[in-house]
Amino acid sequence: MKIAVLGCGTVGSGVVDILDEKKELMVKSAGEEISVKYILDIRDFTGSPYESRIVKDIDIIAEDEEIGCVVETMGGVEPAFTFCKKCLSKGKSVVTSNKALVAAKAQELFKTARENNAAFMFEAAVCGGIPVIRTMFSALSANNILSFSGILNGTTNFILTKMIDEKMSFDTALKIAQEKGYAEKDPTADVDGLDAGRKTCILASIAYGSHVYPEEIHTEGIRNITLEDAAYAANAGCRIKLLGKAHKLNNGKIGAIVCPFLVNTSSLISDVNGVYNAISITGDSIGDVLLYGQGAGKEATASAVTGDVMECVRLKKNEKHYFWEEHKDNVLEDYMLYETALFVRGYAKNKEDSLINIREAFGGVRVIEREDAPSNEIAFITGRAAEKELRDILSELRDFAPASVIRMLD
Ligand code: HSE
Repeated sequence: MKIAVLGCGTVGSGVVDILDEKKELMVKSAGEEISVKYILDIRDFTGSPYESRIVKDIDIIAEDEEIGCVVETMGGVEPAFTFCKKCLSKGKSVVTSNKALVAAKAQELFKTARENNAAFMFEAAVCGGIPVIRTMFSALSANNILSFSGILNGTTNFILTKMIDEKMSFDTALKIAQEKGYAEKDPTADVDGLDAGRKTCILASIAYGSHVYPEEIHTEGIRNITLEDAAYAANAGCRIKLLGKAHKLNNGKIGAIVCPFLVNTSSLISDVNGVYNAISITGDSIGDVLLYGQGAGKEATASAVTGDVMECVRLKKNEKHYFWEEHKDNVLEDYMLYETALFVRGYAKNKEDSLINIREAFGGVRVIEREDAPSNEIAFITGRAAEKELRDILSELRDFAPASVIRMLD
Protein backbone atom coordinates (compact mmCIF):
# COMPACT_ATOMS: atom_id res chain seq x y z
CA MET A 1 0.00 0.00 0.00
CA LYS A 2 1.12 3.53 -0.70
CA ILE A 3 0.41 6.08 1.99
CA ALA A 4 0.75 9.84 2.57
CA VAL A 5 1.83 11.63 5.76
CA LEU A 6 0.33 15.03 6.54
CA GLY A 7 2.76 17.00 8.73
CA CYS A 8 6.39 15.92 9.01
CA GLY A 9 7.06 17.07 12.59
CA THR A 10 8.22 14.87 15.46
CA VAL A 11 5.60 12.14 15.10
CA GLY A 12 5.16 12.37 11.29
CA SER A 13 8.88 12.04 10.61
CA GLY A 14 8.97 9.14 13.10
CA VAL A 15 6.31 7.32 11.04
CA VAL A 16 8.17 7.96 7.76
CA ASP A 17 11.40 6.68 9.35
CA ILE A 18 9.78 3.48 10.67
CA LEU A 19 8.17 2.74 7.30
CA ASP A 20 11.42 3.49 5.41
CA GLU A 21 13.50 1.35 7.77
CA LYS A 22 11.27 -1.62 8.61
CA LYS A 23 10.17 -2.71 5.14
CA GLU A 24 10.69 -6.40 5.86
CA LEU A 25 8.64 -6.27 9.07
CA MET A 26 5.77 -4.56 7.20
CA VAL A 27 5.62 -7.32 4.60
CA LYS A 28 5.83 -10.02 7.25
CA SER A 29 3.28 -8.51 9.59
CA ALA A 30 0.87 -6.58 7.34
CA GLY A 31 1.22 -8.86 4.32
CA GLU A 32 2.49 -6.26 1.85
CA GLU A 33 4.93 -3.41 1.41
CA ILE A 34 3.88 -0.09 2.89
CA SER A 35 5.65 2.92 1.45
CA VAL A 36 5.32 6.67 1.93
CA LYS A 37 4.58 8.27 -1.46
CA TYR A 38 3.80 11.82 -0.30
CA ILE A 39 4.63 14.01 2.69
CA LEU A 40 2.50 17.16 3.00
CA ASP A 41 4.36 19.94 4.77
CA ILE A 42 4.95 23.68 4.39
CA ARG A 43 8.71 23.06 4.70
CA ASP A 44 10.86 21.74 1.82
CA PHE A 45 13.29 19.52 3.80
CA THR A 46 15.97 20.23 1.20
CA GLY A 47 18.69 17.59 1.22
CA SER A 48 16.76 15.21 3.50
CA PRO A 49 15.30 11.77 2.60
CA TYR A 50 11.87 13.44 2.74
CA GLU A 51 12.56 16.08 0.04
CA SER A 52 11.49 14.12 -3.06
CA ARG A 53 8.15 13.22 -1.46
CA ILE A 54 7.15 16.70 -0.25
CA VAL A 55 3.90 18.14 -1.65
CA LYS A 56 2.05 21.30 -0.67
CA ASP A 57 -1.42 20.54 -1.99
CA ILE A 58 -3.79 18.09 -0.25
CA ASP A 59 -5.62 17.49 -3.54
CA ILE A 60 -2.57 15.71 -5.00
CA ILE A 61 -2.99 13.15 -2.20
CA ALA A 62 -6.79 13.05 -2.16
CA GLU A 63 -6.98 12.55 -5.94
CA ASP A 64 -4.25 9.88 -6.17
CA GLU A 65 -5.98 6.50 -6.38
CA GLU A 66 -2.80 4.71 -5.43
CA ILE A 67 -2.95 6.16 -1.90
CA GLY A 68 -4.82 3.76 0.41
CA CYS A 69 -4.13 5.39 3.76
CA VAL A 70 -3.36 8.91 4.99
CA VAL A 71 -1.53 9.62 8.26
CA GLU A 72 -2.42 12.95 9.89
CA THR A 73 0.18 14.22 12.35
CA MET A 74 -0.28 17.97 11.90
CA GLY A 75 -2.05 18.69 15.19
CA GLY A 76 -4.91 21.16 15.81
CA VAL A 77 -8.45 20.88 14.52
CA GLU A 78 -8.05 22.84 11.27
CA PRO A 79 -6.93 22.27 8.60
CA ALA A 80 -6.49 18.69 9.85
CA PHE A 81 -10.25 18.10 9.94
CA THR A 82 -10.86 19.36 6.39
CA PHE A 83 -7.93 17.33 5.05
CA CYS A 84 -8.96 14.14 6.83
CA LYS A 85 -12.59 14.44 5.78
CA LYS A 86 -11.55 15.01 2.17
CA CYS A 87 -9.33 11.91 2.16
CA LEU A 88 -11.98 9.75 3.89
CA SER A 89 -14.61 10.84 1.40
CA LYS A 90 -12.31 9.55 -1.35
CA GLY A 91 -12.27 6.13 0.35
CA LYS A 92 -8.81 6.48 1.89
CA SER A 93 -8.38 5.33 5.47
CA VAL A 94 -7.08 7.94 7.90
CA VAL A 95 -4.80 7.38 10.89
CA THR A 96 -4.16 10.27 13.28
CA SER A 97 -2.23 11.03 16.45
CA ASN A 98 -4.14 14.30 16.87
CA LYS A 99 -6.17 14.23 20.09
CA ALA A 100 -7.61 17.73 19.54
CA LEU A 101 -9.08 16.52 16.24
CA VAL A 102 -10.42 13.25 17.68
CA ALA A 103 -11.89 14.92 20.78
CA ALA A 104 -13.66 17.56 18.68
CA LYS A 105 -14.57 15.78 15.46
CA ALA A 106 -14.29 11.98 15.70
CA GLN A 107 -18.01 11.40 15.39
CA GLU A 108 -18.23 13.20 12.05
CA LEU A 109 -15.08 11.51 10.77
CA PHE A 110 -16.38 8.04 11.79
CA LYS A 111 -19.51 8.75 9.77
CA THR A 112 -17.57 9.80 6.65
CA ALA A 113 -15.29 6.78 7.03
CA ARG A 114 -18.24 4.41 7.31
CA GLU A 115 -20.02 5.93 4.29
CA ASN A 116 -16.90 5.45 2.18
CA ASN A 117 -15.85 2.02 3.42
CA ALA A 118 -12.67 3.42 4.97
CA ALA A 119 -11.22 3.30 8.49
CA PHE A 120 -10.56 6.19 10.89
CA MET A 121 -8.02 5.15 13.55
CA PHE A 122 -6.28 7.06 16.35
CA GLU A 123 -4.37 4.74 18.70
CA ALA A 124 -1.62 7.36 19.17
CA ALA A 125 -4.05 10.10 20.24
CA VAL A 126 -4.27 8.79 23.82
CA CYS A 127 -1.21 7.82 25.86
CA GLY A 128 1.18 7.79 22.86
CA GLY A 129 2.57 4.29 22.50
CA ILE A 130 0.26 2.55 25.01
CA PRO A 131 -2.33 0.43 23.18
CA VAL A 132 -5.33 1.67 25.13
CA ILE A 133 -7.69 2.50 22.25
CA ARG A 134 -7.65 -0.93 20.65
CA THR A 135 -7.75 -2.57 24.09
CA MET A 136 -10.95 -0.71 24.95
CA PHE A 137 -12.57 -1.03 21.52
CA SER A 138 -11.67 -4.65 20.99
CA ALA A 139 -10.07 -6.74 23.74
CA LEU A 140 -12.41 -5.43 26.46
CA SER A 141 -15.49 -5.23 24.28
CA ALA A 142 -17.27 -8.01 26.20
CA ASN A 143 -17.26 -5.75 29.27
CA ASN A 144 -19.33 -2.89 30.52
CA ILE A 145 -16.61 -0.42 31.49
CA LEU A 146 -17.46 0.48 35.07
CA SER A 147 -14.70 3.08 35.38
CA PHE A 148 -11.24 4.11 34.29
CA SER A 149 -8.67 6.45 35.74
CA GLY A 150 -5.29 7.29 34.37
CA ILE A 151 -2.18 9.38 34.30
CA LEU A 152 -2.77 10.61 30.77
CA ASN A 153 -0.27 13.46 30.56
CA GLY A 154 3.46 12.82 30.78
CA THR A 155 4.53 16.44 31.25
CA THR A 156 2.46 17.01 34.39
CA ASN A 157 3.47 13.63 35.78
CA PHE A 158 7.12 14.57 35.21
CA ILE A 159 6.60 17.92 36.98
CA LEU A 160 4.76 16.36 39.95
CA THR A 161 7.43 13.65 40.27
CA LYS A 162 10.17 16.31 40.40
CA MET A 163 8.18 18.30 42.98
CA ILE A 164 7.52 15.26 45.17
CA ASP A 165 10.86 13.44 44.93
CA GLU A 166 13.29 16.35 44.54
CA LYS A 167 11.33 19.12 46.29
CA MET A 168 11.67 21.14 43.10
CA SER A 169 9.39 24.14 42.55
CA PHE A 170 6.66 23.93 39.91
CA ASP A 171 8.35 26.61 37.77
CA THR A 172 11.77 24.90 37.75
CA ALA A 173 10.24 21.50 36.97
CA LEU A 174 8.19 23.00 34.12
CA LYS A 175 11.32 24.61 32.68
CA ILE A 176 13.12 21.23 32.69
CA ALA A 177 10.07 19.55 31.08
CA GLN A 178 10.18 22.17 28.33
CA GLU A 179 13.93 21.77 27.83
CA LYS A 180 13.44 18.02 27.50
CA GLY A 181 10.73 18.58 24.88
CA TYR A 182 7.96 16.85 26.87
CA ALA A 183 5.60 19.81 27.11
CA GLU A 184 3.31 20.72 24.22
CA LYS A 185 4.27 23.89 22.28
CA ASP A 186 2.05 25.84 24.64
CA PRO A 187 2.52 24.32 28.13
CA THR A 188 -0.95 25.55 29.09
CA ALA A 189 -2.46 22.50 27.41
CA ASP A 190 -0.40 20.24 29.67
CA VAL A 191 -0.28 22.08 33.00
CA ASP A 192 -3.91 23.20 32.98
CA GLY A 193 -5.15 19.69 32.27
CA LEU A 194 -6.53 20.39 28.75
CA ASP A 195 -4.44 17.67 27.11
CA ALA A 196 -5.50 15.13 29.76
CA GLY A 197 -9.06 16.41 29.32
CA ARG A 198 -9.12 15.64 25.59
CA LYS A 199 -7.73 12.16 26.23
CA THR A 200 -10.30 11.55 28.99
CA CYS A 201 -13.08 12.54 26.56
CA ILE A 202 -11.81 10.15 23.90
CA LEU A 203 -11.64 7.26 26.37
CA ALA A 204 -15.04 8.11 27.89
CA SER A 205 -16.54 8.23 24.39
CA ILE A 206 -15.21 4.73 23.65
CA ALA A 207 -16.18 3.36 27.06
CA TYR A 208 -19.73 4.74 27.06
CA GLY A 209 -20.50 4.96 23.34
CA SER A 210 -21.46 8.62 23.16
CA HIS A 211 -19.25 11.54 22.13
CA VAL A 212 -18.08 13.47 25.19
CA TYR A 213 -16.69 16.97 24.47
CA PRO A 214 -13.78 18.53 26.42
CA GLU A 215 -15.86 21.63 27.25
CA GLU A 216 -18.31 19.40 29.12
CA ILE A 217 -15.99 17.96 31.74
CA HIS A 218 -14.63 19.70 34.82
CA THR A 219 -10.88 20.17 34.28
CA GLU A 220 -8.22 21.38 36.71
CA GLY A 221 -4.47 21.40 36.17
CA ILE A 222 -1.53 21.34 38.54
CA ARG A 223 -0.53 25.04 38.63
CA ASN A 224 -1.80 25.45 42.18
CA ILE A 225 -0.13 22.37 43.64
CA THR A 226 2.61 23.34 46.10
CA LEU A 227 5.50 21.58 47.81
CA GLU A 228 3.52 21.93 51.05
CA ASP A 229 0.64 19.93 49.52
CA ALA A 230 3.11 17.26 48.38
CA ALA A 231 4.59 17.04 51.90
CA TYR A 232 1.15 16.63 53.53
CA ALA A 233 0.22 14.04 50.92
CA ALA A 234 3.38 12.05 51.74
CA ASN A 235 2.54 12.12 55.45
CA ALA A 236 -0.88 10.75 54.60
CA GLY A 237 0.77 7.87 52.70
CA CYS A 238 -0.15 9.36 49.30
CA ARG A 239 1.34 10.92 46.18
CA ILE A 240 -0.32 13.69 44.17
CA LYS A 241 -1.22 12.67 40.60
CA LEU A 242 -3.14 14.44 37.85
CA LEU A 243 -5.77 11.92 36.78
CA GLY A 244 -8.40 11.72 34.08
CA LYS A 245 -11.29 9.69 35.50
CA ALA A 246 -14.65 8.51 34.29
CA HIS A 247 -17.30 6.12 35.60
CA LYS A 248 -20.83 5.09 34.84
CA LEU A 249 -23.37 6.30 37.42
CA ASN A 250 -26.44 4.37 38.56
CA ASN A 251 -28.70 6.91 36.82
CA GLY A 252 -27.08 5.97 33.50
CA LYS A 253 -25.09 9.20 33.20
CA ILE A 254 -21.32 9.43 32.87
CA GLY A 255 -19.15 10.98 35.58
CA ALA A 256 -15.92 12.43 34.13
CA ILE A 257 -13.34 14.74 35.69
CA VAL A 258 -9.69 15.76 35.25
CA CYS A 259 -7.90 17.08 38.34
CA PRO A 260 -5.09 16.37 40.83
CA PHE A 261 -5.85 13.56 43.30
CA LEU A 262 -4.12 12.24 46.41
CA VAL A 263 -3.39 8.64 45.44
CA ASN A 264 -2.57 6.12 48.17
CA THR A 265 0.91 4.62 47.74
CA SER A 266 -0.63 1.14 47.95
CA SER A 267 -2.13 1.81 44.52
CA LEU A 268 0.04 0.75 41.55
CA ILE A 269 -0.68 4.00 39.75
CA SER A 270 0.99 6.01 42.54
CA ASP A 271 4.28 4.44 41.47
CA VAL A 272 4.04 5.62 37.85
CA ASN A 273 6.56 8.43 37.69
CA GLY A 274 8.36 10.77 35.30
CA VAL A 275 6.89 11.06 31.80
CA TYR A 276 5.31 7.63 31.99
CA ASN A 277 1.56 7.19 31.64
CA ALA A 278 -0.70 4.47 33.02
CA ILE A 279 -4.35 3.75 32.84
CA SER A 280 -6.42 1.50 35.04
CA ILE A 281 -9.66 0.20 33.53
CA THR A 282 -12.34 -1.70 35.43
CA GLY A 283 -14.68 -3.90 33.42
CA ASP A 284 -17.63 -5.84 34.81
CA SER A 285 -16.25 -9.20 33.65
CA ILE A 286 -12.49 -8.71 33.62
CA GLY A 287 -12.11 -6.67 36.81
CA ASP A 288 -9.06 -4.39 36.85
CA VAL A 289 -6.61 -4.00 33.96
CA LEU A 290 -3.56 -1.75 34.13
CA LEU A 291 -1.75 -0.45 31.05
CA TYR A 292 1.59 1.33 31.47
CA GLY A 293 4.14 2.83 29.09
CA GLN A 294 5.46 5.87 27.31
CA GLY A 295 2.68 8.35 26.69
CA ALA A 296 4.74 10.68 24.51
CA GLY A 297 7.91 10.80 22.45
CA LYS A 298 8.75 10.38 18.78
CA GLU A 299 9.32 6.62 18.55
CA ALA A 300 6.62 5.52 21.00
CA THR A 301 3.93 7.63 19.34
CA ALA A 302 5.10 6.79 15.81
CA SER A 303 4.93 3.09 16.72
CA ALA A 304 1.23 3.45 17.60
CA VAL A 305 0.50 5.39 14.38
CA THR A 306 2.35 2.83 12.24
CA GLY A 307 0.52 -0.02 13.99
CA ASP A 308 -2.76 1.59 12.91
CA VAL A 309 -1.49 1.94 9.32
CA MET A 310 -0.68 -1.78 9.32
CA GLU A 311 -4.15 -2.53 10.67
CA CYS A 312 -5.65 -0.48 7.80
CA VAL A 313 -3.70 -2.65 5.35
CA ARG A 314 -4.99 -5.82 7.00
CA LEU A 315 -8.56 -4.50 7.01
CA LYS A 316 -8.35 -3.68 3.31
CA LYS A 317 -7.16 -7.21 2.58
CA ASN A 318 -9.84 -8.53 4.90
CA GLU A 319 -7.16 -10.33 6.87
CA LYS A 320 -8.31 -10.30 10.44
CA HIS A 321 -7.23 -13.78 11.45
CA TYR A 322 -4.18 -14.30 13.67
CA PHE A 323 -1.35 -16.13 11.99
CA TRP A 324 2.18 -17.42 12.44
CA GLU A 325 4.49 -19.64 10.43
CA GLU A 326 5.25 -23.36 10.98
CA HIS A 327 7.69 -24.25 13.75
CA LYS A 328 11.31 -23.69 12.74
CA ASP A 329 14.03 -25.97 14.14
CA ASN A 330 16.45 -24.33 16.57
CA VAL A 331 14.23 -21.28 16.91
CA LEU A 332 14.65 -21.26 20.70
CA GLU A 333 17.98 -20.49 22.31
CA ASP A 334 19.22 -22.68 25.21
CA TYR A 335 18.34 -20.85 28.46
CA MET A 336 21.84 -21.60 29.79
CA LEU A 337 23.12 -19.10 27.21
CA TYR A 338 20.87 -16.22 28.35
CA GLU A 339 22.74 -13.48 30.15
CA THR A 340 21.76 -13.08 33.78
CA ALA A 341 23.07 -12.43 37.27
CA LEU A 342 22.48 -15.03 40.02
CA PHE A 343 21.58 -14.74 43.67
CA VAL A 344 23.33 -17.59 45.47
CA ARG A 345 22.87 -18.74 49.07
CA GLY A 346 24.87 -21.63 50.44
CA TYR A 347 27.01 -23.09 53.19
CA ALA A 348 30.78 -22.91 53.52
CA LYS A 349 33.23 -25.07 55.41
CA ASN A 350 35.10 -21.93 56.31
CA LYS A 351 33.23 -18.68 55.65
CA GLU A 352 36.25 -16.36 55.30
CA ASP A 353 38.16 -18.68 52.96
CA SER A 354 35.07 -19.29 50.86
CA LEU A 355 34.36 -15.58 50.48
CA ILE A 356 37.89 -15.04 49.15
CA ASN A 357 37.40 -17.93 46.68
CA ILE A 358 33.97 -16.74 45.59
CA ARG A 359 35.13 -13.16 44.96
CA GLU A 360 38.12 -14.38 42.99
CA ALA A 361 36.18 -16.95 40.96
CA PHE A 362 33.39 -14.56 39.92
CA GLY A 363 35.64 -11.50 39.60
CA GLY A 364 33.72 -9.75 42.40
CA VAL A 365 30.27 -10.35 43.93
CA ARG A 366 27.87 -8.38 46.13
CA VAL A 367 27.75 -10.13 49.51
CA ILE A 368 24.42 -9.93 51.33
CA GLU A 369 23.94 -10.36 55.07
CA ARG A 370 20.89 -11.29 57.14
CA GLU A 371 20.15 -11.29 60.83
CA ASP A 372 20.46 -14.58 62.70
CA ALA A 373 22.16 -16.29 59.77
CA PRO A 374 24.07 -19.49 60.67
CA SER A 375 27.79 -18.73 60.94
CA ASN A 376 28.60 -20.82 57.83
CA GLU A 377 25.91 -19.30 55.57
CA ILE A 378 26.96 -17.07 52.65
CA ALA A 379 24.70 -15.17 50.26
CA PHE A 380 25.86 -13.14 47.28
CA ILE A 381 24.83 -11.76 43.88
CA THR A 382 27.10 -12.37 40.90
CA GLY A 383 27.74 -10.03 37.99
CA ARG A 384 25.96 -10.65 34.67
CA ALA A 385 27.16 -13.37 32.29
CA ALA A 386 25.76 -16.37 30.39
CA GLU A 387 24.09 -18.59 32.98
CA LYS A 388 26.21 -21.57 31.94
CA GLU A 389 29.38 -19.61 32.65
CA LEU A 390 28.12 -18.67 36.13
CA ARG A 391 26.93 -22.22 36.91
CA ASP A 392 30.29 -23.64 35.82
CA ILE A 393 32.13 -21.30 38.17
CA LEU A 394 29.70 -22.19 40.97
CA SER A 395 30.14 -25.92 40.49
CA GLU A 396 33.90 -25.57 40.66
CA LEU A 397 33.92 -23.75 44.00
CA ARG A 398 35.52 -25.91 46.65
CA ASP A 399 34.10 -26.26 50.19
CA PHE A 400 30.92 -24.34 49.38
CA ALA A 401 27.52 -26.01 48.96
CA PRO A 402 24.89 -23.87 47.21
CA ALA A 403 21.42 -24.19 48.77
CA SER A 404 19.51 -21.67 46.60
CA VAL A 405 20.27 -20.20 43.22
CA ILE A 406 17.78 -17.60 41.95
CA ARG A 407 18.09 -15.56 38.75
CA MET A 408 18.05 -11.78 39.09
CA LEU A 409 15.61 -9.88 36.89
CA ASP A 410 17.53 -7.39 34.67
N1 HSE B 1 2.36 16.74 25.99
C1 HSE B 1 1.79 15.44 26.00
C2 HSE B 1 2.18 14.79 27.33
C3 HSE B 1 2.28 14.64 24.83
O1 HSE B 1 3.01 15.36 28.05
O2 HSE B 1 1.67 13.74 27.69
C4 HSE B 1 1.39 13.56 24.36
O3 HSE B 1 0.07 13.93 24.23
